[in-house]
Amino acid sequence: MIFDCYRKKTLNKTKKLSYEKSMSLRLINGYENLYVGAAKNSTPLIPRQRGTMPYPTSGGELFVCPPLAGQGEDACLHRLEACAVEGISPFPTNNKDRNFQVKSITIKKSNPLKGEITVPGDKSISHRAIMLGSIAEGDTTIKGLLKGEDNMATLKAFRQMGVRIDEHKNGVVAIQGKGIHGLKEPEDFIDAGNSGTTMRLLTGLLSGQGFFSVLTGDKYLRKRPMKRVVEPLSQMGARIFGREGGNKAPLAIVGSKLKGTTYNSPIPSAQVKSAILLAGLYADGGTTVAEPTLSRDHTERMLTYFGAEVKRRGTTVSIAGGQKLTGKKITVPGDISSAAFFMVAALITKDSELLIKNVGINPTRTGIIDILQAMGGDLKIVHQREISGEPVGDILVKSSKLKGIEIKGDMIPRAIDELPVAAVAAAFAEGITKIKDAKELRVKESDRIGTMATYLKELGIQVTEFDDGMDIVGGRPKPPQQGAIFNSHGDHRVAMSMIVAGLATERGITISNTDCIDTSFPGFMELLEGVKRT
Ligand code: S3P
Repeated sequence: MIFDCYRKKTLNKTKKLSYEKSMSLRLINGYENLYVGAAKNSTPLIPRQRGTMPYPTSGGELFVCPPLAGQGEDACLHRLEACAVEGISPFPTNNKDRNFQVKSITIKKSNPLKGEITVPGDKSISHRAIMLGSIAEGDTTIKGLLKGEDNMATLKAFRQMGVRIDEHKNGVVAIQGKGIHGLKEPEDFIDAGNSGTTMRLLTGLLSGQGFFSVLTGDKYLRKRPMKRVVEPLSQMGARIFGREGGNKAPLAIVGSKLKGTTYNSPIPSAQVKSAILLAGLYADGGTTVAEPTLSRDHTERMLTYFGAEVKRRGTTVSIAGGQKLTGKKITVPGDISSAAFFMVAALITKDSELLIKNVGINPTRTGIIDILQAMGGDLKIVHQREISGEPVGDILVKSSKLKGIEIKGDMIPRAIDELPVAAVAAAFAEGITKIKDAKELRVKESDRIGTMATYLKELGIQVTEFDDGMDIVGGRPKPPQQGAIFNSHGDHRVAMSMIVAGLATERGITISNTDCIDTSFPGFMELLEGVKRT
């Protein structure tokens, strides 16, 4: 059936038979009945003038994508898989879809990784520095701000609200703070792009303003749940409207007078906690947030650093409304979430030794170091110090034989963004690693349990998926003979985790749809290439 169209148009009976024998057809991820196949002799089966791939058969459902001149089967696969993820028809009918480009990275088994590196600034701290700098009185200067797409979305939002933010040639960002009541109504909607932190924290901050605003984001962010912030903020008097009863962006916020509240968050989430605390700054009376286990505390630390009084008892934080913030000089440490890719890369790549300098080691974020050490990883924190209210250190990591462990409970929020790369470490470890209590991973930039479980399985690793985690039976990941291609699903951390897996995988692997890496780690590939020894 697959050869229908060729039988009619291109192939005579003998040729058809020989192609049928020599072609290996692969089902394409994301489709129920779309296959790709290449003739071993690489003769294009369809005349090239028939246009861009893929070319549908007369049946319209099954077709063969021929090797394109110089590009081959993989190019077809990347494009088709990315089309499925992006919701673009594989049969383009307009120029935008036809010209849709997929960036992909092929990664081969690597030589040892050696040297000293620094990773870009912490994403969470960078967001908060822009936000608090903008509503503080006086000037704030930020050194080491992450200039990834997520943080640029936050920066642009405050410019839209009348804040002057200059980026100097030396990389320092200077903010002329407007004071707590100095923001102005944005003339257009605010686009948070892919950034959940931008959208959720701004929802809190904007709820108490004297103006109207609309927040939207890319198609991934518009699928993510916002009720977790909308509900407690509504309890404070916020008026927020959105799709699906206020659960999905775009969100329209009618700035209102807020009153303090006490909120028991059912999930440990720094975004929820921070949204409420920022709204609390604008509320009458005190606001208290309690969470089941402690999530990252950068908002509390930075509010204190800017002169506000924040009280913390265990996992409960309180703030009094109406407090003034004062502009500061901030140095943002390197992002431990970005460093984590290099930690795992060095651990699983033979004879590696990396010193990752100037990394934020806030105890609410160092779960990944504890996890990798418990797995037998040789990691040390050296030269500990404190900068701008945050602990910082250098991390020395050497390749190690890893063993499976259990990752659960309080550890989960301390390593939430690093669990995809921890799963990669588990795939290379001896024995079983169990990840539990991590249901939140299902609503990150992608469903990180589903995606990582599927991809590790494709590498020949035994994985059992659960609603809140997965069991991974470690071994030597090996892509199938015909190679493996993984779509990032627009998720930067999935893309980088799979690139790390490729470093130590026989035969190497390809990751497509990798533009998203720029949301948190511009320069990731260059940094990685720079530490590979020949
Ligand atoms: C973040 C909090 C976490 C984390 C995200 C950044 C923040 O999200 O996963 O990447 O900067 O507050 P949750 O609050 O949803 O756990």
